[in-house]
Amino acid sequence: MTAAPARLSVVVPTYNEAPNVEPLVQALDRALQGIAWEVIFVDDDSPDGTAAVARELGARDERVRCLHRVGRRGLAGACIEGILASNAPVAAVMDGDLQHDETLLPAMLAAIDAGADLAVGTRLGEGGSTGDGLSQTRSAGTALATGIARVFLGVRISDPMSGFFMVRRPLFEEVAPKLSVEGFKILLDFLSHSRRGLKVVELPFRFRGRHAGQSKLDSLVVLQFLALVASRMSGGVLPPRFLMFSAVGLSGVGVHVLTLLLAHDLLGLDFVPAQLAATLTAMTTNFHLNNVFTYQDARLRGWRLWRGLLSFYLVCSLGTAANLSVSSFIYDASLSTVGAGLAGAAMSAVFNYAVTKVVTWRL
Ligand code: GDD
Ligand code: MN
Repeated sequence: MTAAPARLSVVVPTYNEAPNVEPLVQALDRALQGIAWEVIFVDDDSPDGTAAVARELGARDERVRCLHRVGRRGLAGACIEGILASNAPVAAVMDGDLQHDETLLPAMLAAIDAGADLAVGTRLGEGGSTGDGLSQTRSAGTALATGIARVFLGVRISDPMSGFFMVRRPLFEEVAPKLSVEGFKILLDFLSHSRRGLKVVELPFRFRGRHAGQSKLDSLVVLQFLALVASRMSGGVLPPRFLMFSAVGLSGVGVHVLTLLLAHDLLGLDFVPAQLAATLTAMTTNFHLNNVFTYQDARLRGWRLWRGLLSFYLVCSLGTAANLSVSSFIYDASLSTVGAGLAGAAMSAVFNYAVTKVVTWRL
C-alpha cells in the first residue's frame, strides 16, 4: 500500500545542524497530527554529517527526505531547490535549529486553505516576539533591514526578514526563476517579485533560542542583503552579484591609490614600476574579495585558487584594453574627459564581470 501523498511539504535548509534533525522531526510529528506532511532537508554537504543523519531517519520514516547538494552553498538557493523538489500543493520553509515554532504550521495551513497565497510567521507583529532568539544587535539589525525593505522596496509586511513562511507551491514555481540564490532573504526577494494583490496573512510567533550549534548569519549575509536591495531598486536590471563585484572593484581603486603612494612617494620607486605594483596589488585583492564575497557559493580553493587568480589577471588585462578602446572612442567623439573615463570604467567592469564569472568561477 502506498501512503497518501503529502499535502504539506516542510523544507528545512541545513548547514551543520546534525544534532537538531531528529528533535525537529519529532516536533513536526507532534505538531502536524492529522495532516499528510513530509519534510525535505536541503543540506549543503555539511561537514558535521547532517545529510547522513537525515537520510538515516528517512530510511525509517518515509516522510523524511534529504536533498544533499555538493559544491554549493546558500540558504536562499537551498530553499528554492527544496520547494521545487516537492510534490505537495503547499510548501513551508523553516529553520533547522528549532528557532521557529512548529506549532504555528497548522494555523498557517488553515490560512492558506482559507484563501491566502502566503502565510508568514512574524516575530515583530503584535503577539510575536524575538524572545531568546535574537541578541540586541541582531534585533536592531533586523529592524534596520525591515526599514530598508519598506522604504526602498515598498514591502509592507511586518517581518519581511522572517525565514518562516508557507506558500502555494505553483505560485512559488512561477517566481522561482527570478529569485536570487545568494544570501538569506528569500522571503523578501519572493515578495518583491510577486504580482500585486498577493494575499498575505501574518501570524505571530515567539522566536526561540537555537537548539544546538551556531548561527551562520555573518557580515557576508548583510552585504548580500544590501546587494539584493540595490538590485531590486534597479528593477532587477543589475544582478546582486554584479553589484557586489562593482563594490569590490571600487575598493580596488582605494587599494591601488594607497599602494601607488606607498611605492612611489614613500619607497621612492619610479612611477611606472610603482603603478605596475599598484595594479597587481589591486587585482589580487579584488580577486580574493570576489572569491570570498561575490562568489561565496563557488569559492575557489587549493590549486583552483591559483589557476583562478591567473585567469583573473588575464581577463582584467583584456578588460583594460576594452576600457581604453571605448573611452578613447567616446573621448574623440565628445571631448568629455570625465564622461569618457567613466564609460571606459563601466565597460571594463561589465567585461571583467561577465568574463571572470564564466572563466574564473566557472558559473
Ligand atoms: N543548505 C543551507 N545552506 N542551509 C543553510 C545555509 C547554507 O548555506 N546557511 C544557513 N543555513 C540554514 C541553517 O542551518 C538553519 O537551519 C537556517 O538555515 C537558518 O540559519 P541560521 O544560521 O540559524 O540563521 P539565524 O537564526 O541567524 O537567522 C534567522 O533569522 C534571520 C532574520 O533575522 C533565520 O530565520 C533567517 O532565515 C532569517 O533571515
Ligand atoms: Mn537560527
